[in-house]
Parts: sequence; structure tokens; C-alpha cells
Amino acid sequence: MSYPSSALIEISNLDFPKTESLFLSALEFSKKPGSLNFAAKTAALLFFEPSTRTRFSFEAAAGRLGLHPLLLDGAAGTSLEKGESIEDTVLNIAAMEPAVVVIRCGDEIDLYDLQKKIKMPMLNAGWGKKAHPTQALLDALTMKANGRDFKKEKLLVIGDVKHSRVIGSHFQLAKILGYEIAVCGPKEFLPEGFQGTYFSQLAEGLSWATSVMALRVQHERHGEKYSVASYREQYGLNLQKLKSWKSDGLVMHPGPVNYGVELDLDVNQDPRCKILEQVKWGTYLRQALLANVLSQKVVS
Ligand code: CP
Repeated sequence: MSYPSSALIEISNLDFPKTESLFLSALEFSKKPGSLNFAAKTAALLFFEPSTRTRFSFEAAAGRLGLHPLLLDGAAGTSLEKGESIEDTVLNIAAMEPAVVVIRCGDEIDLYDLQKKIKMPMLNAGWGKKAHPTQALLDALTMKANGRDFKKEKLLVIGDVKHSRVIGSHFQLAKILGYEIAVCGPKEFLPEGFQGTYFSQLAEGLSWATSVMALRVQHERHGEKYSVASYREQYGLNLQKLKSWKSDGLVMHPGPVNYGVELDLDVNQDPRCKILEQVKWGTYLRQALLANVLSQKVVS
């Protein structure tokens, strides 16, 4: 697949030097958030599907860069309610010449095709079940900011891998940065033909891992098969299960969290829990990405 210019649609659009440069920009912005200004430019933030962390962090990042956001937050109040298609909506907003288009949408949209049509920088802010590259990048940045050496890092992803767009982006990013990934959870939560490292028992997975990431269980898809109680008992993280785990381990979750299912509220008290830190790094990562894509530095 040939890469569109100035777009991040999947992690495979990056390589090690580009990723490293992105992380360095994000770390710089964390020290001087207002150090670059793109005043008089606009950023189209088009969220056709619900979002809290990604949408607000792109808004915060755009604001720190002096970019004016053109925000679409669901169909309400737009001509989508009158039957206009998502593609036509994007093409019309692109005709207003924003400096960058950030988009969250479902699998039915072909982002590569859309980027070719609008011919402007595009950033994927969560694409159906296919990819969520900025989430994987901010998770990795959280590891880096906590002093982790990617070459020694073993990330255990617990839960609903089958329906996660985050994990697909992590598998691509792990190839670039060199961390290992294993998966833990009910066998039925694995993607078809999964060939990677798998632990059916949480305790075994924890003893292998240096970092863990719990995923939201999408009960609407598994409902009858897995009760909340049995999933929580076998795979849910709580302080008791983490008591004897590595003192320097990292606990992450991309959010939103189903508290009392994949993770208990008490885990937030544990200093190893980095869930809100992930959100903070997400704003700097997205600021770095916007700045770099507008300067044509990182993604090309
Ligand atoms: N992790 C993530 O994408 O969260 P939101 O859906 O709230 O943006």
C-alpha cells in the first residue's frame, strides 16, 4: 500500500526515526506547551463516533498550537441528520481548507481513499475496529516517560482483543519499537487465527509481563457467554491480584474503563496505575503529531 502524504492512518505509516522524533517533540511540548503557534490555521476535528479522551485531547492540543478547531461531535445539528453522507461531510469541510483533518469514524469509511480525495493532512483518531494509532503511540510514550526501555518491555494485553482497534495498532508499533506483546483472556476473545503469545491464566500472564493493559470488555458482543462476575473473577485487575506483582510494573487502560469488570476502582490508588497519565501524554503526543504533520516533519 502506498502511503498518502502527511497522514497517519495506521502505525505502519511510521518507522523508528519518525516515531522517535514524535516522542521527542511530545516530551518537549510537555515542558513548553506554547512553544509553537499556528495561529490563523484551522484544524477540522471530525468525530462521527463518540469519544471523550481523543476528542478533548486533540482539542487541547490544537488550542495549545493556536489552531482554531472546526469541531464535529456526532451527527446532531449537522446535515448528517438530513441524510448527508460522512464522505460528503468530510469533503465539504475539507473544501473550507483546514490545515489538517482529524477523523474518528467506523469501518465502513476507507480512510486511505478519503485522504486521497481531500489531499490534505489527515490523522486517524480511531477507525472502527481497524486502527487507533494515536492511542498506541500515547501508550508507548507513557512507557517511555516512565523510563522504560522498549527492548526489555513485555506488554500483557488483557481482555477483548478480538474487538479492539488499539491492539492492532500496538502489534504494528511493537515491531517498530521492539517491545513484546502477549495476550490474556478467554480464548473466545482472541482474533481468528491468532498466532502470538497467549496466557489463559492471569497469574501466568502477570509473571511474564512488565506492563499490563486491560481492555474494555465489550459485553454487548459476548453478553450471554461471559457474565461480568466470572470475567471479573478470572481476568479483572484489583489491588489483591497486583499485590505480589512487579513493584515497577505499569498498569494501563486506553479507556473508557468498565470499573468492576476488567479493573476495580481501587487500582487507581496504586502508584503503578498510569491511566490518567496516559491521558496527559495523549495531549502532548497529539500536539506533537499535529505540529509535525503541519510542518511535514514526521509523517510523510
Ligand atoms: N481511548 C479512547 O479512544 O477513548 P475515547 O473513546 O474516549 O476517545
